[in-house]
Amino acid sequence: MLPKFDFHQRFQLVFLLLFIVSSASAEEYRIVTTWDNRTIDHADKPVIVQLDRKDASSFKISVAAPFFNDPPKPPGAEVGEPFYGLWDYEVVEVFFLNDQDQYVEIEFCPWGQHIVLLLNGYRKMIRHSLFIDFKVTSRTGDYWKGEAIIPADLLPPNVTKMNAYAIHGSGDKTVYESLYPVPFNSTAGADFHKLDAFQPFDRNIILTADVSSYSQTWTDSFEGIRRLKIDHTWNGAFLGEKEAVDLEIETRSGTGLVVKVSAPFYDDVPPPPGPSGWPFNSLSSYEFTSLFLVGGNNVEALEIQLGPWGHYDVIFWSGSSNLSNFHPEIVYQVDWQNSTEGKRWIGTAMIPFAYLPPKVFKCNAHSAHGPSESRQINSLYPTSGILSPNLHNQNSCKAIDMTTIYPGNDNAKCSDVWTGKVPNCPVPYSAGHTQTANHLSLLLAIASIASFIL
Ligand SMILES: *[C@@H]1O[C@H](CO)[C@@H](O)[C@H](O)[C@H]1NC(C)=O
Ligand SMILES: *[C@@H]1O[C@H](CO)[C@@H](O)[C@H](O)[C@H]1NC(C)=O
Ligand SMILES: *[C@@H]1O[C@H](CO)[C@@H](O)[C@H](O)[C@H]1NC(C)=O
Ligand SMILES: *[C@@H]1O[C@H](CO)[C@@H](O)[C@H](O)[C@H]1NC(C)=O
Ligand SMILES: *[C@@H]1O[C@H](CO)[C@@H](O)[C@H](O)[C@H]1NC(C)=O
Repeated sequence: MLPKFDFHQRFQLVFLLLFIVSSASAEEYRIVTTWDNRTIDHADKPVIVQLDRKDASSFKISVAAPFFNDPPKPPGAEVGEPFYGLWDYEVVEVFFLNDQDQYVEIEFCPWGQHIVLLLNGYRKMIRHSLFIDFKVTSRTGDYWKGEAIIPADLLPPNVTKMNAYAIHGSGDKTVYESLYPVPFNSTAGADFHKLDAFQPFDRNIILTADVSSYSQTWTDSFEGIRRLKIDHTWNGAFLGEKEAVDLEIETRSGTGLVVKVSAPFYDDVPPPPGPSGWPFNSLSSYEFTSLFLVGGNNVEALEIQLGPWGHYDVIFWSGSSNLSNFHPEIVYQVDWQNSTEGKRWIGTAMIPFAYLPPKVFKCNAHSAHGPSESRQINSLYPTSGILSPNLHNQNSCKAIDMTTIYPGNDNAKCSDVWTGKVPNCPVPYSAGHTQTANHLSLLLAIASIASFIL
Protein backbone atom coordinates (compact mmCIF):
# COMPACT_ATOMS: atom_id res chain seq x y z
CA MET A 1 0.00 0.00 0.00
CA LEU A 2 1.24 3.49 -0.80
CA PRO A 3 1.67 5.86 2.13
CA LYS A 4 -0.39 9.05 1.98
CA PHE A 5 1.53 12.33 2.07
CA ASP A 6 0.19 15.65 3.28
CA PHE A 7 0.98 18.78 1.31
CA HIS A 8 4.12 19.54 3.28
CA GLN A 9 5.50 16.05 2.91
CA ARG A 10 4.74 16.08 -0.82
CA PHE A 11 6.58 19.35 -1.13
CA GLN A 12 9.61 17.83 0.58
CA LEU A 13 9.41 14.74 -1.58
CA VAL A 14 9.37 16.76 -4.78
CA PHE A 15 12.40 18.67 -3.59
CA LEU A 16 14.17 15.47 -2.67
CA LEU A 17 13.44 14.00 -6.11
CA LEU A 18 14.59 17.15 -7.83
CA PHE A 19 17.75 17.05 -5.79
CA ILE A 20 18.42 13.39 -6.68
CA VAL A 21 17.76 14.01 -10.38
CA SER A 22 19.91 17.10 -10.60
CA SER A 23 22.74 15.73 -8.51
CA ALA A 24 22.80 12.48 -10.43
CA SER A 25 23.26 14.01 -13.86
CA ALA A 26 26.15 16.17 -15.04
CA GLU A 27 29.20 16.53 -12.89
CA GLU A 28 32.19 18.75 -13.35
CA TYR A 29 35.74 17.79 -12.39
CA ARG A 30 38.75 20.14 -12.18
CA ILE A 31 42.21 18.64 -12.37
CA VAL A 32 44.35 20.76 -10.02
CA THR A 33 47.07 18.35 -8.88
CA THR A 34 49.94 16.54 -10.55
CA TRP A 35 49.94 12.73 -10.50
CA ASP A 36 51.82 12.88 -7.17
CA ASN A 37 49.67 15.52 -5.47
CA ARG A 38 51.63 18.70 -6.14
CA THR A 39 49.59 21.77 -7.05
CA ILE A 40 49.77 22.42 -10.81
CA ASP A 41 51.27 25.70 -12.08
CA HIS A 42 48.04 26.69 -13.93
CA ALA A 43 45.56 26.04 -11.11
CA ASP A 44 43.74 29.26 -12.08
CA LYS A 45 42.99 27.66 -15.47
CA PRO A 46 42.80 23.90 -14.89
CA VAL A 47 41.63 21.14 -17.19
CA ILE A 48 37.86 20.76 -16.72
CA VAL A 49 36.07 17.54 -17.55
CA GLN A 50 32.28 17.43 -17.52
CA LEU A 51 30.33 14.19 -17.54
CA ASP A 52 26.70 14.10 -18.68
CA ARG A 53 23.97 11.67 -19.52
CA LYS A 54 22.79 11.47 -23.10
CA ASP A 55 20.51 8.50 -23.75
CA ALA A 56 20.15 4.81 -22.99
CA SER A 57 23.04 3.88 -25.26
CA SER A 58 25.56 6.68 -24.77
CA PHE A 59 26.89 9.43 -22.54
CA LYS A 60 28.76 12.66 -23.01
CA ILE A 61 32.21 13.89 -21.98
CA SER A 62 33.06 17.56 -22.47
CA VAL A 63 36.60 18.87 -22.06
CA ALA A 64 37.70 22.50 -21.58
CA ALA A 65 41.44 22.83 -21.16
CA PRO A 66 44.45 25.09 -21.55
CA PHE A 67 46.19 24.47 -24.89
CA PHE A 68 49.96 24.16 -24.53
CA ASN A 69 50.67 23.02 -28.10
CA ASP A 70 53.38 20.84 -26.60
CA PRO A 71 54.06 18.20 -27.80
CA PRO A 72 52.93 19.35 -31.26
CA LYS A 73 50.21 17.71 -33.33
CA PRO A 74 50.59 13.90 -33.63
CA PRO A 75 52.18 13.30 -37.06
CA GLY A 76 49.99 11.72 -39.73
CA ALA A 77 47.00 11.60 -37.41
CA GLU A 78 43.54 12.10 -38.84
CA VAL A 79 40.98 14.26 -37.11
CA GLY A 80 38.16 12.23 -35.57
CA GLU A 81 40.05 8.93 -35.79
CA PRO A 82 41.70 6.67 -33.19
CA PHE A 83 45.45 7.27 -32.82
CA TYR A 84 47.40 4.50 -31.09
CA GLY A 85 50.07 6.05 -28.85
CA LEU A 86 48.13 9.25 -28.24
CA TRP A 87 49.41 9.22 -24.63
CA ASP A 88 52.76 10.45 -25.96
CA TYR A 89 51.06 13.73 -26.97
CA GLU A 90 49.01 16.46 -25.29
CA VAL A 91 45.89 14.71 -23.96
CA VAL A 92 43.06 14.74 -21.46
CA GLU A 93 42.03 11.28 -20.24
CA VAL A 94 39.08 9.78 -18.37
CA PHE A 95 39.07 6.26 -16.86
CA PHE A 96 36.05 4.33 -15.51
CA LEU A 97 36.73 1.31 -13.30
CA ASN A 98 34.67 -1.52 -11.76
CA ASP A 99 35.37 -3.68 -8.69
CA GLN A 100 36.92 -6.42 -10.86
CA ASP A 101 39.72 -4.06 -11.97
CA GLN A 102 38.16 -3.86 -15.44
CA TYR A 103 38.33 -0.41 -16.90
CA VAL A 104 37.98 1.75 -19.97
CA GLU A 105 40.52 4.45 -20.77
CA ILE A 106 39.36 7.29 -23.03
CA GLU A 107 41.84 9.89 -24.30
CA PHE A 108 41.25 13.16 -26.14
CA CYS A 109 43.78 15.26 -28.02
CA PRO A 110 43.31 18.98 -28.74
CA TRP A 111 44.07 18.13 -32.40
CA GLY A 112 40.90 16.01 -32.69
CA GLN A 113 42.24 12.46 -32.29
CA HIS A 114 41.16 10.00 -29.63
CA ILE A 115 42.02 6.55 -28.35
CA VAL A 116 39.87 4.17 -26.33
CA LEU A 117 41.37 1.15 -24.56
CA LEU A 118 39.63 -1.67 -22.69
CA LEU A 119 41.63 -3.21 -19.85
CA ASN A 120 40.94 -6.41 -17.93
CA GLY A 121 43.14 -5.95 -14.85
CA TYR A 122 46.04 -3.58 -14.19
CA ARG A 123 47.50 -2.56 -17.58
CA LYS A 124 46.10 -5.70 -19.26
CA MET A 125 44.88 -4.21 -22.50
CA ILE A 126 42.40 -6.45 -24.31
CA ARG A 127 41.30 -3.98 -26.98
CA HIS A 128 42.24 -0.61 -28.43
CA SER A 129 41.17 1.88 -31.11
CA LEU A 130 37.43 1.61 -30.50
CA PHE A 131 35.38 4.30 -32.20
CA ILE A 132 33.79 7.25 -30.46
CA ASP A 133 32.35 10.46 -31.79
CA PHE A 134 34.77 13.17 -30.63
CA LYS A 135 35.00 16.73 -31.92
CA VAL A 136 37.22 19.62 -30.93
CA THR A 137 34.67 22.41 -30.86
CA SER A 138 37.15 25.28 -30.44
CA ARG A 139 40.90 25.80 -30.21
CA THR A 140 42.50 29.18 -29.75
CA GLY A 141 46.13 30.06 -28.99
CA ASP A 142 45.91 28.90 -25.40
CA TYR A 143 42.60 27.12 -24.82
CA TRP A 144 40.59 24.29 -26.34
CA LYS A 145 37.24 22.62 -25.92
CA GLY A 146 35.98 19.26 -27.11
CA GLU A 147 32.90 17.08 -26.89
CA ALA A 148 32.57 13.34 -27.12
CA ILE A 149 29.65 10.93 -27.28
CA ILE A 150 30.75 7.64 -25.75
CA PRO A 151 28.81 4.41 -26.42
CA ALA A 152 27.74 2.99 -23.04
CA ASP A 153 28.80 -0.47 -24.18
CA LEU A 154 32.44 0.58 -23.87
CA LEU A 155 31.97 0.65 -20.09
CA PRO A 156 32.76 -2.49 -18.13
CA PRO A 157 29.74 -3.64 -16.08
CA ASN A 158 29.01 -2.00 -12.72
CA VAL A 159 31.47 0.88 -12.86
CA THR A 160 32.13 2.20 -9.31
CA LYS A 161 35.18 4.47 -9.61
CA MET A 162 36.83 6.92 -11.93
CA ASN A 163 39.87 9.12 -12.40
CA ALA A 164 40.83 11.80 -14.92
CA TYR A 165 44.22 12.94 -16.16
CA ALA A 166 46.00 15.36 -18.43
CA ILE A 167 49.44 15.36 -20.05
CA HIS A 168 51.39 18.17 -21.67
CA GLY A 169 55.03 19.06 -22.23
CA SER A 170 57.89 17.11 -23.79
CA GLY A 171 60.83 15.01 -22.63
CA ASP A 172 61.80 15.59 -18.99
CA LYS A 173 59.47 18.61 -18.92
CA THR A 174 56.41 16.41 -19.39
CA VAL A 175 53.71 17.26 -16.84
CA TYR A 176 51.36 14.51 -15.65
CA GLU A 177 48.21 15.72 -13.91
CA SER A 178 45.59 13.70 -12.00
CA LEU A 179 42.17 14.46 -10.63
CA TYR A 180 42.83 11.90 -7.87
CA PRO A 181 46.59 11.77 -7.30
CA VAL A 182 48.82 9.32 -5.45
CA PRO A 183 50.54 10.69 -2.29
CA PHE A 184 53.23 13.31 -2.69
CA ASN A 185 56.84 12.10 -2.81
CA SER A 186 55.93 8.81 -4.44
CA THR A 187 59.17 7.13 -5.47
CA ALA A 188 57.57 5.43 -8.48
CA GLY A 189 57.16 7.19 -11.83
CA ALA A 190 53.85 8.60 -13.01
CA ASP A 191 51.39 5.76 -13.54
CA PHE A 192 47.83 6.58 -14.57
CA HIS A 193 46.85 2.94 -13.96
CA LYS A 194 47.32 3.11 -10.18
CA LEU A 195 43.83 1.77 -9.61
CA ASP A 196 43.84 2.33 -5.84
CA ALA A 197 44.07 6.10 -6.42
CA PHE A 198 40.67 6.03 -8.21
CA GLN A 199 37.73 7.38 -6.22
CA PRO A 200 34.05 6.38 -5.93
CA PHE A 201 31.85 7.41 -8.82
CA ASP A 202 28.07 7.34 -9.14
CA ARG A 203 27.48 5.88 -12.59
CA ASN A 204 24.00 7.41 -12.66
CA ILE A 205 25.82 10.63 -13.50
CA ILE A 206 26.35 9.27 -17.01
CA LEU A 207 23.87 6.42 -17.42
CA THR A 208 20.11 6.51 -17.95
CA ALA A 209 20.07 2.69 -18.21
CA ASP A 210 22.47 0.76 -16.02
CA VAL A 211 25.30 -1.28 -17.55
CA SER A 212 25.41 -4.32 -15.27
CA SER A 213 26.45 -7.07 -17.66
CA TYR A 214 29.22 -7.39 -20.25
CA SER A 215 28.37 -5.68 -23.50
CA GLN A 216 28.97 -7.34 -26.87
CA THR A 217 32.08 -5.16 -27.20
CA TRP A 218 33.52 -6.49 -23.94
CA THR A 219 32.56 -10.10 -24.70
CA ASP A 220 34.10 -9.84 -28.18
CA SER A 221 37.24 -8.37 -26.66
CA PHE A 222 37.56 -11.30 -24.24
CA GLU A 223 36.97 -13.77 -27.06
CA GLY A 224 39.17 -12.07 -29.62
CA ILE A 225 36.42 -11.28 -32.12
CA ARG A 226 36.24 -8.19 -34.33
CA ARG A 227 32.84 -7.44 -35.86
CA LEU A 228 32.38 -5.23 -38.91
CA LYS A 229 29.09 -4.29 -40.57
CA ILE A 230 28.82 -3.19 -44.18
CA ASP A 231 25.69 -1.04 -43.90
CA HIS A 232 26.25 1.91 -46.25
CA THR A 233 26.49 2.30 -49.98
CA TRP A 234 30.03 3.09 -51.13
CA ASN A 235 29.21 6.81 -51.08
CA GLY A 236 27.43 6.90 -47.76
CA ALA A 237 23.68 6.17 -47.99
CA PHE A 238 22.48 4.03 -45.12
CA LEU A 239 21.26 0.49 -45.93
CA GLY A 240 18.59 -1.31 -43.97
CA GLU A 241 19.49 -4.18 -41.64
CA LYS A 242 18.28 -6.76 -44.23
CA GLU A 243 20.83 -5.54 -46.77
CA ALA A 244 23.70 -5.26 -44.32
CA VAL A 245 26.63 -7.67 -44.52
CA ASP A 246 28.20 -8.85 -41.26
CA LEU A 247 31.85 -9.78 -40.99
CA GLU A 248 33.56 -11.46 -38.09
CA ILE A 249 37.32 -11.74 -37.79
CA GLU A 250 39.03 -13.96 -35.26
CA THR A 251 42.28 -15.78 -34.64
CA ARG A 252 41.35 -18.55 -32.21
CA SER A 253 43.19 -21.27 -34.11
CA GLY A 254 46.47 -19.47 -33.43
CA THR A 255 47.68 -20.19 -36.96
CA GLY A 256 45.52 -17.98 -39.09
CA LEU A 257 42.84 -15.40 -39.48
CA VAL A 258 39.30 -16.69 -39.75
CA VAL A 259 37.01 -14.37 -41.68
CA LYS A 260 33.29 -15.08 -41.58
CA VAL A 261 30.85 -13.28 -43.88
CA SER A 262 27.08 -13.33 -43.47
CA ALA A 263 25.50 -11.66 -46.50
CA PRO A 264 22.09 -11.44 -48.15
CA PHE A 265 21.89 -13.53 -51.33
CA TYR A 266 20.81 -11.67 -54.49
CA ASP A 267 20.81 -14.68 -56.81
CA ASP A 268 22.94 -12.95 -59.45
CA VAL A 269 24.23 -14.99 -62.37
CA PRO A 270 26.88 -17.16 -60.70
CA PRO A 271 30.47 -17.12 -61.93
CA PRO A 272 31.51 -20.16 -64.00
CA PRO A 273 32.72 -22.91 -61.71
CA GLY A 274 36.36 -22.22 -60.85
CA PRO A 275 38.95 -24.94 -60.43
CA SER A 276 37.90 -26.42 -57.11
CA GLY A 277 39.86 -25.04 -54.19
CA TRP A 278 41.79 -22.49 -56.26
CA PRO A 279 41.40 -18.71 -56.39
CA PHE A 280 39.09 -17.27 -59.02
CA ASN A 281 40.53 -14.13 -60.57
CA SER A 282 37.52 -12.12 -61.70
CA LEU A 283 35.22 -12.56 -58.73
CA SER A 284 34.83 -8.78 -58.34
CA SER A 285 32.55 -8.75 -61.42
CA TYR A 286 30.06 -11.02 -59.61
CA GLU A 287 28.20 -11.06 -56.31
CA PHE A 288 30.90 -10.91 -53.63
CA THR A 289 32.14 -9.43 -50.34
CA SER A 290 35.71 -8.27 -49.77
CA LEU A 291 37.89 -7.42 -46.80
CA PHE A 292 40.81 -5.03 -47.32
CA LEU A 293 43.52 -5.01 -44.62
CA VAL A 294 46.20 -2.31 -44.74
CA GLY A 295 49.72 -2.63 -43.30
CA GLY A 296 51.37 -0.16 -40.95
CA ASN A 297 53.23 1.85 -43.59
CA ASN A 298 50.06 2.51 -45.59
CA VAL A 299 51.49 0.76 -48.64
CA GLU A 300 51.02 -3.02 -48.46
CA ALA A 301 47.51 -4.37 -48.23
CA LEU A 302 45.77 -7.73 -48.45
CA GLU A 303 42.41 -8.13 -50.15
CA ILE A 304 40.24 -11.19 -49.63
CA GLN A 305 37.22 -11.58 -51.91
CA LEU A 306 34.57 -14.14 -51.04
CA GLY A 307 31.52 -15.22 -53.04
CA PRO A 308 28.32 -17.21 -52.35
CA TRP A 309 29.27 -20.10 -54.67
CA GLY A 310 32.57 -21.01 -53.03
CA HIS A 311 34.73 -18.77 -55.25
CA TYR A 312 37.37 -16.62 -53.60
CA ASP A 313 40.35 -14.50 -54.54
CA VAL A 314 43.36 -13.28 -52.55
CA ILE A 315 45.10 -10.18 -53.86
CA PHE A 316 48.33 -8.64 -52.57
CA TRP A 317 48.62 -4.86 -52.96
CA SER A 318 51.60 -2.53 -52.84
CA GLY A 319 50.17 0.97 -53.00
CA SER A 320 47.86 1.15 -56.00
CA SER A 321 49.30 -1.83 -57.83
CA ASN A 322 48.64 -5.49 -57.18
CA LEU A 323 50.65 -8.66 -57.62
CA SER A 324 48.64 -9.79 -60.61
CA ASN A 325 50.57 -13.07 -60.88
CA PHE A 326 50.27 -14.08 -57.25
CA HIS A 327 46.88 -15.22 -56.01
CA PRO A 328 47.57 -17.79 -53.29
CA GLU A 329 45.16 -20.34 -51.88
CA ILE A 330 43.07 -20.22 -48.75
CA VAL A 331 40.52 -22.62 -47.35
CA TYR A 332 36.98 -21.41 -47.99
CA GLN A 333 33.58 -22.89 -47.29
CA VAL A 334 30.02 -21.60 -47.80
CA ASP A 335 26.96 -22.47 -45.73
CA TRP A 336 23.40 -21.27 -46.30
CA GLN A 337 20.63 -19.83 -44.18
CA ASN A 338 17.51 -20.19 -46.28
CA SER A 339 14.31 -18.84 -44.79
CA THR A 340 11.04 -17.50 -46.09
CA GLU A 341 12.31 -13.93 -45.50
CA GLY A 342 15.27 -14.50 -47.76
CA LYS A 343 18.49 -16.39 -48.19
CA ARG A 344 21.84 -15.54 -46.65
CA TRP A 345 25.17 -17.12 -47.42
CA ILE A 346 27.72 -17.65 -44.69
CA GLY A 347 31.25 -17.80 -46.02
CA THR A 348 34.09 -18.89 -43.75
CA ALA A 349 37.68 -18.39 -44.90
CA MET A 350 40.95 -19.40 -43.26
CA ILE A 351 43.86 -17.16 -44.09
CA PRO A 352 47.42 -17.92 -42.96
CA PHE A 353 48.97 -15.13 -40.86
CA ALA A 354 51.88 -15.07 -43.33
CA TYR A 355 49.53 -13.45 -45.89
CA LEU A 356 49.07 -10.38 -43.68
CA PRO A 357 51.18 -7.34 -44.41
CA PRO A 358 53.27 -6.23 -41.40
CA LYS A 359 51.41 -4.27 -38.72
CA VAL A 360 47.86 -4.30 -40.05
CA PHE A 361 46.23 -1.26 -38.45
CA LYS A 362 43.28 -0.30 -40.61
CA CYS A 363 40.72 -1.89 -42.89
CA ASN A 364 37.67 -1.46 -45.00
CA ALA A 365 35.20 -3.97 -46.39
CA HIS A 366 32.88 -3.90 -49.37
CA SER A 367 30.14 -5.93 -51.00
CA ALA A 368 28.67 -5.78 -54.48
CA HIS A 369 25.93 -7.34 -56.55
CA GLY A 370 23.84 -6.70 -59.65
CA PRO A 371 24.74 -6.43 -63.33
CA SER A 372 27.22 -3.75 -64.40
CA GLU A 373 24.56 -1.23 -65.53
CA SER A 374 22.83 -1.29 -62.13
CA ARG A 375 25.61 -2.55 -59.92
CA GLN A 376 25.23 -1.82 -56.24
CA ILE A 377 28.43 -1.39 -54.25
CA ASN A 378 28.35 -1.10 -50.46
CA SER A 379 31.05 -0.25 -47.95
CA LEU A 380 31.87 -0.56 -44.28
CA TYR A 381 33.48 2.89 -44.40
CA PRO A 382 32.05 4.89 -47.30
CA THR A 383 34.04 7.48 -49.21
CA SER A 384 32.91 10.97 -49.99
CA GLY A 385 34.20 13.35 -52.59
CA ILE A 386 35.06 10.76 -55.22
CA LEU A 387 32.94 9.99 -58.25
CA SER A 388 33.27 6.24 -58.54
CA PRO A 389 33.85 3.49 -56.01
CA ASN A 390 37.44 2.45 -55.37
CA LEU A 391 37.60 -0.70 -53.30
CA HIS A 392 41.36 -0.28 -52.81
CA ASN A 393 41.37 3.25 -51.50
CA GLN A 394 43.53 3.14 -48.38
CA ASN A 395 42.31 6.60 -47.33
CA SER A 396 38.82 5.23 -46.76
CA CYS A 397 40.13 2.63 -44.30
CA LYS A 398 39.77 3.02 -40.54
CA ALA A 399 41.44 1.61 -37.47
CA ILE A 400 41.23 -2.06 -36.53
CA ASP A 401 42.99 -3.47 -33.47
CA MET A 402 44.64 -6.65 -34.81
CA THR A 403 47.46 -6.79 -32.27
CA THR A 404 45.40 -7.89 -29.28
CA ILE A 405 44.05 -10.83 -31.30
CA TYR A 406 47.36 -11.56 -33.11
CA PRO A 407 50.49 -10.44 -31.22
CA GLY A 408 52.65 -11.27 -34.29
CA ASN A 409 50.98 -8.28 -35.95
CA ASP A 410 53.43 -6.02 -34.10
CA ASN A 411 56.36 -7.55 -35.97
CA ALA A 412 57.52 -5.01 -38.55
CA LYS A 413 59.28 -7.71 -40.59
CA CYS A 414 57.65 -8.91 -43.78
CA SER A 415 56.57 -12.54 -43.71
CA ASP A 416 58.14 -15.05 -46.09
CA VAL A 417 55.12 -14.72 -48.35
CA TRP A 418 55.64 -10.96 -48.86
CA THR A 419 59.45 -11.12 -48.97
CA GLY A 420 60.86 -10.54 -52.43
CA LYS A 421 57.48 -9.63 -53.92
CA VAL A 422 57.10 -5.91 -53.14
CA PRO A 423 59.64 -3.06 -52.85
CA ASN A 424 59.17 -2.71 -49.07
CA CYS A 425 59.93 -6.37 -48.49
CA PRO A 426 63.30 -6.97 -50.15
CA VAL A 427 65.08 -10.31 -49.83
CA PRO A 428 67.68 -9.85 -47.06
CA TYR A 429 71.09 -9.29 -48.68
CA SER A 430 72.86 -11.89 -46.55
CA ALA A 431 70.35 -14.62 -47.17
CA GLY A 432 72.11 -16.02 -50.23
CA HIS A 433 68.94 -17.78 -51.30
CA THR A 434 65.44 -16.50 -51.82
CA GLN A 435 63.06 -16.82 -48.94
CA THR A 436 59.82 -17.03 -50.82
CA ALA A 437 57.37 -19.24 -49.06
CA ASN A 438 57.49 -22.86 -49.82
CA HIS A 439 54.20 -23.68 -51.49
CA LEU A 440 53.86 -27.01 -49.72
CA SER A 441 54.45 -25.53 -46.25
CA LEU A 442 51.76 -22.92 -46.84
CA LEU A 443 49.29 -25.55 -47.94
CA LEU A 444 50.09 -27.57 -44.83
CA ALA A 445 49.51 -24.49 -42.65
CA ILE A 446 46.17 -23.88 -44.35
CA ALA A 447 45.16 -27.50 -43.94
CA SER A 448 45.97 -27.41 -40.22
CA ILE A 449 43.87 -24.25 -39.71
CA ALA A 450 41.05 -25.85 -41.67
CA SER A 451 41.05 -28.96 -39.51
CA PHE A 452 40.93 -26.79 -36.41
CA ILE A 453 38.03 -24.60 -37.54
CA LEU A 454 35.72 -26.57 -39.80
C1 LIG B 1 46.99 15.45 -1.37
O1 LIG B 1 47.24 16.61 -0.63
C2 LIG B 1 46.10 17.08 0.08
C3 LIG B 1 46.45 18.43 0.68
O2 LIG B 1 47.70 18.38 1.27
C4 LIG B 1 45.72 16.03 1.12
O3 LIG B 1 44.58 16.47 1.82
C5 LIG B 1 45.41 14.73 0.41
O4 LIG B 1 45.14 13.71 1.34
C6 LIG B 1 46.58 14.31 -0.46
N1 LIG B 1 46.20 13.16 -1.26
C7 LIG B 1 46.90 12.04 -1.30
C8 LIG B 1 46.37 10.96 -2.16
O5 LIG B 1 47.93 11.89 -0.68
C1 LIG C 1 60.52 12.86 0.23
O1 LIG C 1 61.30 11.68 0.18
C2 LIG C 1 62.67 11.90 0.47
C3 LIG C 1 63.42 10.59 0.22
O2 LIG C 1 62.58 9.48 0.40
C4 LIG C 1 62.82 12.40 1.91
O3 LIG C 1 64.17 12.66 2.21
C5 LIG C 1 62.01 13.71 2.05
O4 LIG C 1 62.04 14.15 3.39
C6 LIG C 1 60.58 13.49 1.64
N1 LIG C 1 59.87 14.76 1.62
C7 LIG C 1 58.66 14.92 2.10
C8 LIG C 1 58.10 16.29 2.09
O5 LIG C 1 58.02 13.99 2.56
C1 LIG D 1 26.54 -6.06 -11.59
O1 LIG D 1 25.80 -5.82 -10.44
C2 LIG D 1 24.53 -6.48 -10.40
C3 LIG D 1 23.78 -6.00 -9.19
O2 LIG D 1 24.60 -6.08 -8.08
C4 LIG D 1 24.78 -7.98 -10.43
O3 LIG D 1 23.56 -8.65 -10.46
C5 LIG D 1 25.57 -8.33 -11.67
O4 LIG D 1 25.88 -9.70 -11.69
C6 LIG D 1 26.86 -7.53 -11.75
N1 LIG D 1 27.48 -7.77 -13.04
C7 LIG D 1 28.66 -8.37 -13.18
C8 LIG D 1 29.13 -8.62 -14.56
O5 LIG D 1 29.33 -8.73 -12.21
C1 LIG E 1 45.69 -6.01 -60.61
O1 LIG E 1 46.61 -5.47 -61.51
C2 LIG E 1 46.37 -5.83 -62.87
C3 LIG E 1 47.56 -5.34 -63.69
O2 LIG E 1 47.84 -4.01 -63.41
C4 LIG E 1 45.04 -5.23 -63.31
O3 LIG E 1 44.78 -5.58 -64.65
C5 LIG E 1 43.96 -5.79 -62.41
O4 LIG E 1 42.72 -5.19 -62.71
C6 LIG E 1 44.28 -5.54 -60.95
N1 LIG E 1 43.34 -6.28 -60.13
C7 LIG E 1 42.40 -5.65 -59.41
C8 LIG E 1 41.54 -6.55 -58.56
O5 LIG E 1 42.25 -4.45 -59.44
C1 LIG F 1 19.76 -22.47 -49.97
O1 LIG F 1 19.78 -21.66 -51.12
C2 LIG F 1 20.90 -21.86 -51.97
C3 LIG F 1 20.83 -20.83 -53.09
O2 LIG F 1 19.62 -20.86 -53.74
C4 LIG F 1 20.93 -23.28 -52.48
O3 LIG F 1 22.05 -23.49 -53.30
C5 LIG F 1 20.98 -24.23 -51.31
O4 LIG F 1 20.94 -25.55 -51.74
C6 LIG F 1 19.82 -23.95 -50.34
N1 LIG F 1 20.01 -24.77 -49.17
C7 LIG F 1 19.02 -25.42 -48.59
C8 LIG F 1 19.37 -26.23 -47.39
O5 LIG F 1 17.88 -25.36 -49.01
